[in-house]
Amino acid sequence: MALPALHADGLRYAYRGVPAVYDVSLGIEEGEIVALLGANGAGKSTTVNMLAGVLRPDAGRIVWKGEDIAGLAAHRVMERGIALVPEGRLIFPQMTVLENLQVAGTSRRAADGFARTLDEVLAVFPRLRERADQAAGSLSGGEQQMLAIARGLVGRPALMVLDEPSLGLAPMLVRAVFDLVRDLNARGMTVLLVEQNLRQSLKVAARGYVLEKGRVALAGTGPALLDDPYVRQAFLGL
Ligand SMILES: Nc1ncnc2c1ncn2[C@@H]1O[C@H](COP(=O)(O)OP(=O)(O)O)[C@@H](O)[C@H]1O
Ligand SMILES: [Mg+2]
Repeated sequence: MALPALHADGLRYAYRGVPAVYDVSLGIEEGEIVALLGANGAGKSTTVNMLAGVLRPDAGRIVWKGEDIAGLAAHRVMERGIALVPEGRLIFPQMTVLENLQVAGTSRRAADGFARTLDEVLAVFPRLRERADQAAGSLSGGEQQMLAIARGLVGRPALMVLDEPSLGLAPMLVRAVFDLVRDLNARGMTVLLVEQNLRQSLKVAARGYVLEKGRVALAGTGPALLDDPYVRQAFLGL
């Protein structure tokens, strides 16, 4: 088996003494799409916020390309090629679409060859190019999600972590987001896809981890997870 590009081991995090993540270990190999699944409150966002340097783990290791990055600040993690598209699309609503992308392009990693990257990113999102001078807050929900993903791409990450990109989107737009994930992966991007939507995400992710109450309850390939009695009962209502 190839060496994982990212390996997290024994991650733990408590919010003011209240544990949210107990002992989460996961690995992602270069070129994979891996799903991080689980119900609301399972600890998905806490986990990926630790991976991205937004939260400092209370315990555990995060090794990215051979380096322990646990506890590094978010901008340092980003410089090393990990981009988090946070839950809830944290874009700047008063700024234009273009300004949102320019702000995302100020990191050292993104600044190099920014004009070209911007052009490439906008080629992926023609709707955003059309609306470049419009206030980001005036975009539809689906367009705002695309903008949030585009902001991540501007940093030219090697690993994209998408925290519930389909949340609150109409079914057609959910499909568009998952198609985009597949497309980015085909261009060489490694993806960690955080979702409550098991069935949809396991159509694009080859394998996944299911979190429950801050622990990895199950891990396996898409077909194995979809076949699992616990998953079928708890997540698919079968
Ligand atoms: N900022 C916070 N302060 C206190 N508790 C939090 C905070 N964020 C999340 N939690 C709690 O941590 C647990 C895991 O939350 P979270 O990681 O957001 O789960 P998920 O992303 O899977 O929905 C939940 O019980 C949640 O209420
Ligand atoms: Mg979450």
